[in-house]
Amino acid sequence: MNRTRRLRKTENIRRLVRENSLQVSDLIYPVFIEEGKDIETEITSMPGIKRFSLDKLSKELDEVSQLDIPAILLFGIPSSKDEVGSETWNDQGIIQKSIRFIKRHYPHLYVITDVCFCEYTNHGHCGIINDNDVDNDATLVNLAKQVISHAKAGADMVAPSGMMDGMITAIRTALDESGFPNLPVMSYAVKYASAFYGPFRDAADSTPSFGDRRTYQMDPSNRDEALREANFDDQEGADILMVKPALSYLDIIRDIKNNFDRPVACYNVSGEYSMIKAASEKGWIDEERVMMESLLSMKRAGADIIITYFAKDVAKLLLKK
Ligand code: PBG
Repeated sequence: MNRTRRLRKTENIRRLVRENSLQVSDLIYPVFIEEGKDIETEITSMPGIKRFSLDKLSKELDEVSQLDIPAILLFGIPSSKDEVGSETWNDQGIIQKSIRFIKRHYPHLYVITDVCFCEYTNHGHCGIINDNDVDNDATLVNLAKQVISHAKAGADMVAPSGMMDGMITAIRTALDESGFPNLPVMSYAVKYASAFYGPFRDAADSTPSFGDRRTYQMDPSNRDEALREANFDDQEGADILMVKPALSYLDIIRDIKNNFDRPVACYNVSGEYSMIKAASEKGWIDEERVMMESLLSMKRAGADIIITYFAKDVAKLLLKK
């Protein structure tokens, strides 16, 4: 008889036949940096995650470095917003100052910047508004300004998350022409209009003041369209293709892995994180095991890289083992 149980008998044989594993080197940790002084605010809807002002950031970065998490993804919360999000390309803006600070004090940390406008516009949309909708091509011009400013400040990688058509070409061209041909782009290539971003919008103050993001983010019903999106970004030269959210889109992660010869990242978003935290606070699930099981499902689906608010928790857990 074929007996699959033979290879499950002890932990050591299970280790030998184990197909996937989660490592600290798979992880990127998102960091929220708020303009101002003396800020260290717990984000109520994301237990364990805080917004820091730059003067309070060192403790957090010391921990990230000690845990050997390879990279952080920066989100800025500016003190002033306007119609177009002009703070995004201000060389003295919160992200630019943060990059310089981090690269000076933590040179080994790999610094990725989220490239978008929603935290910086007074309407909360991811670009310039014309006729009640985001104007794609006008937004591309500003995206180019934003990435150049991040690159000049010393970012190691940029990650555009606005789902504008042609954004990778616009960004790649701008970087190449400004002397940054070696700066990689991680594209939020397949990003769905998801309710799982709820807690993040509290964290980053980026809820749209009117309408929603469905004219630029993808319809959760669609699968073929994800290949189309990824294909454009692949052709336009994105170095890493990302799928977001992760947990409800494992099929999409596998599709992208099977169809493209690029590293695949996924974003384990705020809602996915907070659901686990909340259920575990109630004592309904085992937080550590559910965390590891869900992150492992992303690896199994084909993710090479996982952006997750659990990064520090995972690193601590793996050190214990
Ligand atoms: C937008 C952006 C969002 C997230 C990352 N970048 C929110 C959105 O599209 O509304 C969400 C991340 C999360 O939920 O953890 N620039």
